[in-house]
Amino acid sequence: MQEKLEDILNQAFKKLGYEVDAKVVKSKEENVDFQCDNLFSLAKEYHKAPLVIGEDIVKTINEMDDFSLYFNSVTLAKPGFINICVSDEFINKMLKELINKDKFGIEEEHNTIVIDYGGPNVAKPLHVGHLRTAIIGQAIYNILKFKGNKVIGDVHLGDIGTQMGQVIYGIIRDFPNTDFKDIEFDLDYLNKTYPEMSALCKENDDVKAKCLKITKDLQDGNSNYKILWKKICDISIADIKRLYEYLDVHFDLWYGESDSYKQFSEMIPFIESKGIVKEDDGAKIIDVKEDDDKIDIPPLILQKSDGAYLYATSDLGTIWQRKKDFNPDAIIYVTDNRQALHFKQVFRATRKANIYDGSLEHYGYGTVNGPDNKPFKTREGGALKLESLIKEVKDEFINLREENKNMGSEDLDKIVNAIIKFADLQNDLTRNYIFDIKKFSEVNGKTGSYILYSYLRINKLLSNNDGNLSSEIYNDVDRALRLKLLDVSNVINEAALERKPHYIANYLYELAVIANNFYEANKMNGIDEKIRNDYDIVLSFNNKVLKKLLSLLGISIPKAM
Ligand code: ARG
Repeated sequence: MQEKLEDILNQAFKKLGYEVDAKVVKSKEENVDFQCDNLFSLAKEYHKAPLVIGEDIVKTINEMDDFSLYFNSVTLAKPGFINICVSDEFINKMLKELINKDKFGIEEEHNTIVIDYGGPNVAKPLHVGHLRTAIIGQAIYNILKFKGNKVIGDVHLGDIGTQMGQVIYGIIRDFPNTDFKDIEFDLDYLNKTYPEMSALCKENDDVKAKCLKITKDLQDGNSNYKILWKKICDISIADIKRLYEYLDVHFDLWYGESDSYKQFSEMIPFIESKGIVKEDDGAKIIDVKEDDDKIDIPPLILQKSDGAYLYATSDLGTIWQRKKDFNPDAIIYVTDNRQALHFKQVFRATRKANIYDGSLEHYGYGTVNGPDNKPFKTREGGALKLESLIKEVKDEFINLREENKNMGSEDLDKIVNAIIKFADLQNDLTRNYIFDIKKFSEVNGKTGSYILYSYLRINKLLSNNDGNLSSEIYNDVDRALRLKLLDVSNVINEAALERKPHYIANYLYELAVIANNFYEANKMNGIDEKIRNDYDIVLSFNNKVLKKLLSLLGISIPKAM
């Protein structure tokens, strides 16, 4: 609709001799649907008052032969806006077209995009931070895939960091005189050992040094440590997969940081051949400072003086590998925004070394905060485990109403997912937000349950329609709903372009509010058959939109609630 309006305005501007690209946006004014504010820039360019130019434009449009096909009114408003109110006929024409379009008529893209939205660390439990990466990343994945891109999701496990040396040290201590091949342990053991060893390393420098040595030897391929490492990975990854499964989060690739090490023998000489690697106190570094930096950007450490590799080297190796395997148009990273500097260094080094020239994008999200507006912590002060958060939300929802207690587990899990995901995805990802379990579980308000409930309630009202929308609109809320539905492709296009799932979440909420108003204001039964048929078409399309957009956010609909 906006495009068509811009076409019409462009013709009018052209006819009157103005060179301009008309921009039409939704209006917040009452009884105005759209507005065009090109008049201000034109006034500067043509040295005329905005209202003078506007008057001619508005007159030209009002004199169009087919004016009433598109408009109820086109008027000029001070200090220089063209206010547009579209005709019901135009709304219905556009809506009919939209209903028959595949994928809501979104513009298709055919890029290859790798998304890195996992990053859990083997042998450590997943916490709320990993939740954000997973939910936001999966939503971006779904949106870009729906747009037609080839999308590849990589979990990028942290499987070779210092925690591995610490846990291996703990195992050797706990199973003395046992052949590594014969050592058996389980998830509970890992969950207990990692925090214990991590605390021990903080207070005992000797143990810390030993753990670092083990990590380094493991990175160098020590075959004995590899035996234990493999066992730790198997147990821990099985548990990580279980949690992702619960969240309906999926990865095409289950690579780990350790896989990037396989690229080093090829990549490091390549980087060194570029003459950008410097020696600094025995370490190999790459300067990534740029002249117009406002803050000091420290060099990237390619290799420590003891020969060990760090996080940044591993990310360079991963880019090297992704380029080789997929030659993607873009690589997208979703992590905590505290990693912004790390990615800046890695991206700059990538360009300097000429490893990859596609788009490199890091989206850093804010923290999930507790009621005190500080990062969510357990009573003991540690980061909240993902598993505990899920359990708290589930308990809260069950206790909300008597009937929730008898809900089947499949439906319950879908609702818990909706609550958690919608709570997160309605915020611009860069912002911190307070996770208020009580508020987010409510069926009223801007919550996942509210959207699900709206969908289910409307679904109950629907009956078969003959597929032909008449040219009428029956009242204001009917009109508002139809106009809102016309926005769907814009919203998806924008969310994909800017990698911002919250555009979709906010649209979903606004649409659900209007749809709720619609059925509260309009009777569905005992009404004229034609009206009933039109309502059925509009509401079933409304539900098609709700369902599809929810699915892009990773939310599925329960059978009942
Ligand atoms: N494992 C890392 C962490 O927990 C996150 C990894 C993010 N992805 C990446 N390619 N660096 O901090």
